[in-house]
Amino acid sequence: MKFAEKYGPWALVTGASSGIGEAFARGIAARGVNVVLVARRADRLTQLAAEIEADSGVRTHAITADLTGDDALQTICDELGTRRIGLLVNNAGAGQTGAFLDHDLDTELAAIDLNCRAPLMLAHHFGRIMRAEGRGGIVMLASIAGILPAPMFANYSATKAWNRFFGEALHAELTHDGIDVVSLCPGLTQSEFFDKVDFNPSQWPAPLKATTIMSAEEVAAAGLRGLGHSSQVVPGLSYRWLMRAARMAPSGLPPWLTDRVMRLALPSR
Ligand SMILES: NC(=O)c1ccc[n+]([C@@H]2O[C@H](COP(=O)([O-])OP(=O)(O)OC[C@H]3O[C@@H](n4cnc5c(N)ncnc54)[C@H](OP(=O)(O)O)[C@@H]3O)[C@@H](O)[C@H]2O)c1
Repeated sequence: MKFAEKYGPWALVTGASSGIGEAFARGIAARGVNVVLVARRADRLTQLAAEIEADSGVRTHAITADLTGDDALQTICDELGTRRIGLLVNNAGAGQTGAFLDHDLDTELAAIDLNCRAPLMLAHHFGRIMRAEGRGGIVMLASIAGILPAPMFANYSATKAWNRFFGEALHAELTHDGIDVVSLCPGLTQSEFFDKVDFNPSQWPAPLKATTIMSAEEVAAAGLRGLGHSSQVVPGLSYRWLMRAARMAPSGLPPWLTDRVMRLALPSR
């Protein structure tokens, strides 16, 4: 089946107002599928929607929603009307670097709402619709921090492990319903993500500083290529090697080493 036949007529991308979500929205539109863009910043969504329509000729629909809100799913469903979602990209996400015990508890709980609760609700709702049609796709945004536990980024890392496990388990489970699921595990990627947290990898020593920073377009393209083929995608050769090496180490990478690496990138530590 062609991409648009399998995953059309509409895709819904959360966190489409910047970074990897924006790249997904553009990449999906270029494959001939209409896109629903979800995030909080309405002005960004409106501008992106106009650009996508001009570039790709598909239809777009922007929904302003805070995915941590209790009414998020209802708002999205009300706004969608009769648009049928064949592809869900659970991309919106955020996290806080630094010492867990110094963080505000409500902020950590909100990260679980955004990174885990919202994607779960959306996968449940739209997964049922896809199952009834016998086709569809779901992308879960995990991270290499969901493969290797990341000290000083502990709650975020744990939410990303949740996304990875959830996506990989659903990959096997929903294939019987004609639904493709992939867990996408990017390494460092250019976006607004690290503008919002205390993290500066330029402080790493030379071999680590050479760590590839991928573009959001490369990451989204890898996710879309993996959909229907793999349960997990780690974009970029260097990250695939890193993950392989970590798995081959007798008991994974020692936590003191990842702790050291993370602290070096935290200017205030
Ligand atoms: N960048 C990386 O190195 C990297 C690596 C691995 C995984 N990831 C994952 O990739 C995903 C996308 O991140 P990114 O790098 O593209 O970062 P980003 O540029 O900061 O994008 C985050 C997106 O999430 C949206 N968002 C944040 N809070 C929201 C809320 N409460 N309700 C609705 N939307 C919300 C933001 O839009 P608004 O602010 O307009 O709401 C934005 O569109 C995340 O799940 C992240 O964990 C990123």
